[in-house]
Amino acid sequence: MLSFDTDGAFQDNYKFLIGSILPRPIAWISSVNDDGSHNIAPFSFFTAISAKPMIVAFCPLIRTSTGEEKDTARNIKKNKDFVINIFSENLAEKVNLTSAELPYGENEFAHANLETLNSEKVKAKRVKGCPIHFECQFRDFLSYGDTPGAGQIITGEVMKVHVDESVYEEGRIITQKLRPVGRGAGNDWFKCSDTFQLERLMKAQIQK
Ligand SMILES: Cc1cc2nc3c(=O)[nH]c(=O)nc-3n(C[C@H](O)[C@H](O)[C@H](O)COP(=O)(O)O)c2cc1C
Repeated sequence: MLSFDTDGAFQDNYKFLIGSILPRPIAWISSVNDDGSHNIAPFSFFTAISAKPMIVAFCPLIRTSTGEEKDTARNIKKNKDFVINIFSENLAEKVNLTSAELPYGENEFAHANLETLNSEKVKAKRVKGCPIHFECQFRDFLSYGDTPGAGQIITGEVMKVHVDESVYEEGRIITQKLRPVGRGAGNDWFKCSDTFQLERLMKAQIQK
């Protein structure tokens, strides 16, 4: 077994994180720029936090190329809302396109040729063609520093959920219809078509 301290270069720590914590779900996050134009980018340091209130979190890192905060973080702190677009396999390449480092304010929806839908409760737009949208109001911000690779946590309260009928049956989202993808290390992505079931052992069953 090899062992490593974590006080070296951020790249080394980053490789351990992305190689160990996977597959990671991907939040495709739209936000509003200062001039009212729209921004979108993917974030795989993303998770659910609370069911009621319904809270989600994601983590933009300080940009390693410039040492600046990511546009998504800047926008959400200023404009106070965002949308998490949950996408299917067919949109993966467009998602990847929106991770390009464009100059602040350049419309990434146009860059990836994406159509938008208005949201009901927030200013940020939804991506047309995504089967699930979470309209989120900004809740919390935590920062772990301002050097390249330092993380931030942004949480949002989901105020409205939109689910396309094509992935929804009898009150449940059907994974096989949603066809989600996950992120791995390096350039790896995962398809989630190979699922298996294990019955959950509730306390009552264990005591039998
Ligand atoms: C699938 C995928 C997942 C990503 N996840 C993250 C992440 O969790 N945190 C992060 O800081 N950057 C992540 N990135 C890189 C950002 O998307 C990229 O830095 C983007 O330019 C940020 O855009 P913004 O400046 O408009 O916010 C990811 C990129 C890809 C392709």
